[in-house]
Amino acid sequence: MKLERGSLAAFDTSPKRNGRSASVHSWYDFYAGFSSDFVSAALRALSLPLGSRILDPWNGSGTTSATGQEMGMHAIGFDINPAMLIIARAKTLSAPSLESVLPLAKLIAAEASANRGIGIEDPLTSWFQYHDAVTLRSIERSIRRALVVPPFDEIVNVNRLSDIAAFFLNALFSVARSLAKQSKTKNPTWVRKARRTKNVGAQQIYELFIKKCLEQCAAYSVPSTPVRGVVDLQLADSRSLPLGDSSISATITSPPYCTRLDYAVSTRIELAAMGMVEADFDRLRARSIGTTRVPKSVATPNPDWGPECLNFLEQVRSHPSKASRGYYYKNHFVYFESLHQSMAEISRVTRPGGSIFIVVQDSFYKEVLNPLSKIVGQMGERNSLSVVGEYEFVSKRDMARVNIKSRIYNADRQVSEVVVWMRKHD
Ligand SMILES: C[S@@+](CC[C@H](N)C(=O)[O-])C[C@H]1O[C@@H](n2cnc3c(N)ncnc32)[C@H](O)[C@@H]1O
Repeated sequence: MKLERGSLAAFDTSPKRNGRSASVHSWYDFYAGFSSDFVSAALRALSLPLGSRILDPWNGSGTTSATGQEMGMHAIGFDINPAMLIIARAKTLSAPSLESVLPLAKLIAAEASANRGIGIEDPLTSWFQYHDAVTLRSIERSIRRALVVPPFDEIVNVNRLSDIAAFFLNALFSVARSLAKQSKTKNPTWVRKARRTKNVGAQQIYELFIKKCLEQCAAYSVPSTPVRGVVDLQLADSRSLPLGDSSISATITSPPYCTRLDYAVSTRIELAAMGMVEADFDRLRARSIGTTRVPKSVATPNPDWGPECLNFLEQVRSHPSKASRGYYYKNHFVYFESLHQSMAEISRVTRPGGSIFIVVQDSFYKEVLNPLSKIVGQMGERNSLSVVGEYEFVSKRDMARVNIKSRIYNADRQVSEVVVWMRKHD
């Protein structure tokens, strides 16, 4: 069922971020982030009691978790990428903590300049001159020394990280990203490695760090809602959610798109700023849904993926172009396998009658339409969910427009962003 524009007030709000107003959501310009107006419209439509448990299993930059908290919900967000978890955690900072930002930022910078030191293998040296990498690392270490309980363990620390520690790490991410700007390629999600920036200088980096902290404070708007909810953020895989059956009232989410966006690669600089080494980065990349990596072989498609998915996969497999039968078929296969496992998990943890809003983007493989919104609906229907409705928005920021090579096939096409609303059977 396609709903007419305006027939459902909740869906009159585009899931695409418009970048209009300054808010915590402007702290990190995440290519795939959706809008907090959309999350609040969806929550209002559901009229959930305060404290209801809402979920985003692909929490990304934390739009659902931060907005859910603002609206008095118990928001639960998972992501496989620790950098995304830090970005999402930063947004949960409470207004009174802003008072501590400037004195703490100065302290962190002073402590960093007094305690420099780096291993030659530091991942930041892929982008920055050695001395600049030393400066950035000294800030990261200084944040940890001041605000994070040792010993350093990525999973434990990221899961338990305080909002104020995440706030400073987010500012450090902005510094690293802005200094490495020239390493970006035409594809906004692809960060090129090993092209070093010019030497910046320690003093300038410390000042930039303090400036980014102050900019984050300036963009903070005190929530207008009277009751703040609770947020739980955790590193987890959407294919195996650490939640009990029927424990969630609503899910508002957006999976990785099926457009060969490599989400781990898009946060490569942030992960390096956290100190993630190459081997761990490779492991994260392989586990992230949407990865461009493919296994040597794949099994046969599962009929439970639904006819739209099987039909699309077959069109990819039988496409005459080079590599369709090999690399691209396997790449899509792995994506749908992971999506199906995740849909089964989302359904399992949703209480009977609970709602699920999934924002997806239909796309094209060559000239073949990948009807992801229908595929998600059919996977849901095979997992005790019914599609309540779909609402479509024309996307202006899609891969057909940013990836010049793909324009050969997609010259006049408009790609849609679709909100699929599903409900768990009673
Ligand atoms: C489209 S983004 C979500 C955007 C989010 N709605 C926002 O507003 O920022 C998809 C997210 O899924 C995460 N992801 C990829 N594979 C995952 C997996 N297996 N389990 C959990 N999260 C995963 C990526 O790291 C990325 O942050």
